[in-house]
Amino acid sequence: MARAYNFYPGPATLPLPALERAQKELLDFEGTGTSVMETSHRSKEYDAVHNEAIALIKEFLGLGDDFHVAFMGGGASLQFAMIPMNLLASDQTADYIHTGTWSKKAIAEAKLFGHVNVAFDGETVGLTRIPRQDELELTPDARYVHFTSNNTIKGTQWHTFPETGSVPLICDMSSDFLWRRFDARPFSLIYAGAQKNVGPAGVTVLIIRDDLLARCKEENPTLLKYKTHVEKNSLFNTPPCFNIYMVRNVLAWMKDMGGMEGIEKQNRRKAGMIYEAIDAQPDFFRAPVDRDSRSMMNIVFRLPSEELEAKFVAEGKERGMLGLKGHRSVGGIRISVYNSCPMEAAEKVTAFMKEFAASNS
Ligand SMILES: Cc1ncc(COP(=O)(O)O)c(C=O)c1O
Repeated sequence: MARAYNFYPGPATLPLPALERAQKELLDFEGTGTSVMETSHRSKEYDAVHNEAIALIKEFLGLGDDFHVAFMGGGASLQFAMIPMNLLASDQTADYIHTGTWSKKAIAEAKLFGHVNVAFDGETVGLTRIPRQDELELTPDARYVHFTSNNTIKGTQWHTFPETGSVPLICDMSSDFLWRRFDARPFSLIYAGAQKNVGPAGVTVLIIRDDLLARCKEENPTLLKYKTHVEKNSLFNTPPCFNIYMVRNVLAWMKDMGGMEGIEKQNRRKAGMIYEAIDAQPDFFRAPVDRDSRSMMNIVFRLPSEELEAKFVAEGKERGMLGLKGHRSVGGIRISVYNSCPMEAAEKVTAFMKEFAASNS
């Protein structure tokens, strides 16, 4: 079987065991004689999958009973609107830390509901680094602070999180959800489109703490209220069952890989070897991101010319390596090495980078 070395930024590669499990169970899921796509979302068989996925997320993050996990549709982009819709009134202010394309979109949506204070404008540093705590101009009584933990396009990542005191901290973790151990307790809300680190597109994981939930507005349409999803355990309406099932399969694989500790170790090794190759040849590979802000998920760099970048992408593809092209808004090369990207793929692309530099310098 020919599986590509898949470096797409999302939808991204999924673990082979998670796919094989789905293949094996496709026609007869848990002895039901149906696939999980054809089974009632109220059945005990589906319920077990749904709750196992929630339990694994809570276990990996060490979340107590004051945190709720929900599965939402509409992508991470819907959360850009749902957060201010639930939490921000027209006379209130929310702080947004702007570090890339996705925070810009989140800011635009929040402005539809209330005041936005841009606590740090990453454009002033070319979006090439994450701000220091002392650079954040936070509003003391803001409704919340929103930031993007990993900037999928620019390849920057927060390695220590912003401190916001008593102001609720909200994070778009779409492109680095569950990539490493971290203390989730200071967060009031975390959301992540599944399609990078934990599953296929079509489901967004939401984590919300009790105290923030209590502050959500009541006067929104039923399905756009966080309370609806939490109170009904994401079963108010028909959830994206197959997507959640796949998330369960990926999380179960992560557990087999040693849980968050094992996953983090592997992620650091993969990104480490690629950055090492970049740093070993600074005349050929140019990394635009400040070292302290480098993403362990999306590694971006430039080659000496756009022609060489196109050649790198084309030659990579000939060798079975997909998704090496940088985002169309920034160009260059981007190698995405999420949780499910195997070590072998990272080794393969690192060897290719070295070989390419040697033959094109
Ligand atoms: C950090 C981040 N946030 C949000 C999004 C938007 O996600 P969706 O397409 O699921 O709405 C993306 C998509 O790549 C992303 O990388």
